[in-house]
Amino acid sequence: MADLSRPPGPKIIAVANQKGGVGKTTTAINLAAALVELEKTVLVVDLDPQGNASTGLGIDPSERDMTTYELLVDDAPLDDVIQETEIAGLHIVPATVDLSSADIELISNEKRSFLLHDALRQTAMDRYGFDYILIDCPPSLSLLTVNAMVSAHSVLIPLQSEFFALEGLSQLMLTIREVRQTANPDLRIEGVILTMFDRRNNLSQQVEQDARANLGDLVFDTIIPRNVRVSEAPSYAMPVLSYDPNSQGAVAYRALAREVMQKNGKLAA
Ligand SMILES: Nc1ncnc2c1ncn2[C@@H]1O[C@H](COP(=O)(O)OP(=O)(O)O)[C@@H](O)[C@H]1O
Ligand SMILES: [Mg+2]
Repeated sequence: MADLSRPPGPKIIAVANQKGGVGKTTTAINLAAALVELEKTVLVVDLDPQGNASTGLGIDPSERDMTTYELLVDDAPLDDVIQETEIAGLHIVPATVDLSSADIELISNEKRSFLLHDALRQTAMDRYGFDYILIDCPPSLSLLTVNAMVSAHSVLIPLQSEFFALEGLSQLMLTIREVRQTANPDLRIEGVILTMFDRRNNLSQQVEQDARANLGDLVFDTIIPRNVRVSEAPSYAMPVLSYDPNSQGAVAYRALAREVMQKNGKLAA
């Protein structure tokens, strides 16, 4: 039974796709920044040992003493691992390469698939009052990604507008189904977001048609265009919404944030 003495917790969304370079991290960072612009408070959990979300949100490697690794493997309290970013209302649990050994270290832990689930449900979470938690997954269907799916309410899938984009999707859907059948029956698909879309490229158009034909309403109306400002922003350690607020990429991520909020009934249509 739900514990009515606790406020309703944050909506937890895993940003996942086992393919690398499809726009997971870019989407996690910029959707987070766009939700914050809409006056939501957001926590990004960097679940990728590459730590790109941490870098992209301005957390220097020297400031990553307490990370997702400590949260999962050492049962660290939330207060020790959650950091503020330069953007008010946007927090992060950073990651380092340490996280790459977590899979192996946790292999004999009976609760290995539930570690992130339990970590994000520490009572200390209530005090932060986050509206959303976005989990930036690694490019694999490993134990880390399973932890994200077990802890999340939904999965948001970036799909690069490129040949073979849909091919890996069946494997991802299978993993989602397995998680539903075992640990998290209520896991939903938040939606599929087409990324790095090039309007002048027939292939991009084809991928969009295929995606909408096969996945229907799961595909967000919003499409993220390929935009050089988006790819430049991480080297300035900021979301594109701060780096170039009027760029096409920033405008698109704001539209995505509004769509996500509409789907979650937090914004009138
Ligand atoms: N809309 C976009 N326009 C231009 N470059 C992009 C866009 N989205 C992502 N990129 C770039 O593509 C690369 C891969 O994106 P990333 O978000 O890191 O993917 P993933 O996290 O899935 O591995 C990065 O260099 C990123 O800056
Ligand atoms: Mg990434």
